[in-house]
Amino acid sequence: MTTLGTPLSPSATKVMLLGSGELGKEVLIALQRLGVETIAVDRYDNAPGQQVAHHARTITMSDPAQLKTLIEAERPHLVVPEIEAIATPMLQEIEAAGLVRVIPTARAARLTMDREGIRRLAAETLGLPTSPYQFCDSLEELQAAIDAGIGYPCIVKPVMSSSGKGQSKIDGPADVKTAWDYAMSGGRVGPGRIIVEGFIAFDYEITQLTVRALGANGDIETHFCDPIGHVQVSGDYVESWQPHPMTPTALAESRRIAKAVTDDLGMGHDGQPSGLGLFGVELFVKGDQVWFSEVSPRPHDTGMVTMITQWQNEFELHARAILGLPVSTALKSPGASAVIYGGVEATGIVFDGVDEALRVPNSEIRLFGKPESFVKRRMGVALVHDADVEVARTQAKLAASKVKPRIA
Ligand SMILES: Nc1ncnc2c1ncn2[C@@H]1O[C@H](COP(=O)(O)OP(=O)(O)O)[C@@H](O)[C@H]1O
Ligand SMILES: [Mg+2]
Repeated sequence: MTTLGTPLSPSATKVMLLGSGELGKEVLIALQRLGVETIAVDRYDNAPGQQVAHHARTITMSDPAQLKTLIEAERPHLVVPEIEAIATPMLQEIEAAGLVRVIPTARAARLTMDREGIRRLAAETLGLPTSPYQFCDSLEELQAAIDAGIGYPCIVKPVMSSSGKGQSKIDGPADVKTAWDYAMSGGRVGPGRIIVEGFIAFDYEITQLTVRALGANGDIETHFCDPIGHVQVSGDYVESWQPHPMTPTALAESRRIAKAVTDDLGMGHDGQPSGLGLFGVELFVKGDQVWFSEVSPRPHDTGMVTMITQWQNEFELHARAILGLPVSTALKSPGASAVIYGGVEATGIVFDGVDEALRVPNSEIRLFGKPESFVKRRMGVALVHDADVEVARTQAKLAASKVKPRIA
C-alpha cells in the first residue's frame, strides 16, 4: 500500500529532482498534484522546475560533496535524476548506505551518464543489436578503429555529452580530424574519450517509452507506450509524433529490447528488481530490423508529445510509478510536438504570436520560463492532436512557427 503525506508538514512525502529543466518541471507539477513536497535542484537560479516546486536549491550537481550535503540536509524520500551530469558514484554510495532511494536506481543513473557504460551493457552483457562501435582516446585510435572495421560513414560522439553536443558524422578520411576536434570541444568533462559508431541507414527512429510500475500484487510490471517517431537535427530533437506506424515484427522486437534494457537497469545495488519509473528507449528501425541506440532512465524530450496524446503523460507516468501507484499508458489521441527555439541570445526575452499559435486547431503551447535564451536553446514546445498523425505534425510545426521570441 502506498501512503502519501501532507506537504510542508512532518508527514510530507518528499521528492528531490536533480535537474529542473522543462522535463523536470512537468514531473514536479505531476508530483505537486499528488500533494508531494518537492525540492527542485539545478545549477542556476530560477530554472523552470524551481518555479513550480516548494523549494528551490542551486548547486553544482556534479560535485559529490555539494550533492551529499544537500541530500543529507533535505532528507528526501526519493531522489530523481533529471539530467546526466551528476555525481552518480556518490549517489550509489548513499543509496547502498540506505540514506536515500534513487530513481530508478543509482546504478542506472551511473550506467547511463556515459555512453560507454550503457553501450557495453546493451551490446556486450545483454547481447542486444547495436551499431558497430569502438571507444577511442586519441585521433590515432579513432583512425585505426575506422580502418579496422567501423568504416565510413560513421558517427563520433564524446562519451559524456547529450543533445548532440560534440557529435558529428564522418563521410570519408578528410572528415576524421575535424570530427575529433569537434568532439574534444563538445564533451561535458573536457577533453577525453569518444565513441565511434558505424552509421545505421535506418528508415526511421523511435522512442519506446517504457514504464516499470507496481501491480496490484506488489510485483513490478512493465508497460509500453505507443511508439514515438521523431526527427533529430544535429543530434537534437526538433519534432516528434505518436503513434509511429510499425510492422508487428519491428514493434515486438522494439519491446523485447526495451524490456531487456529496463529489466537490467531496474536492478538495484542489492540485485533486487526494485527500480521503478519511466525510461525512454531510443531505437533505430529498418524494415523489421531494430537496433538499440541509447536509453534515458527518466522522461525523454521526444516524449513531450504525450502531454497531448496520452491520458497520463510521460511525466505523470514517472511520478505515479516512482510513488508506487498504478499507471495507464493508453493513448488519448494521435498527435505531434514541435520545438520552439530561442532564436536570440538574451535574458528575459518575450514571445510574440502565442495567440496566433493557439488559433491553430487542437493546439497547446508550453513556454518553459527559462531565464536566458540562446539561438538553439529549447524555450517551448507546440503540441497538436489530430486523428491523422501527419496532419498533427504539419499543424504542430505551424503552431511552433507562429511563436516569435525576441529581445524585450
Ligand atoms: N550510429 C548511428 N547511425 C545513424 N544515426 C545515428 C547514430 N547515432 C546517432 N545517430 C543520430 O543522432 C541522434 C543523436 O544521437 P544519440 O546517440 O541519441 O545522442 P544524444 O545522447 O545526444 O541524444 C540519434 O537520435 C540519431 O538520429
Ligand atoms: Mg539520443
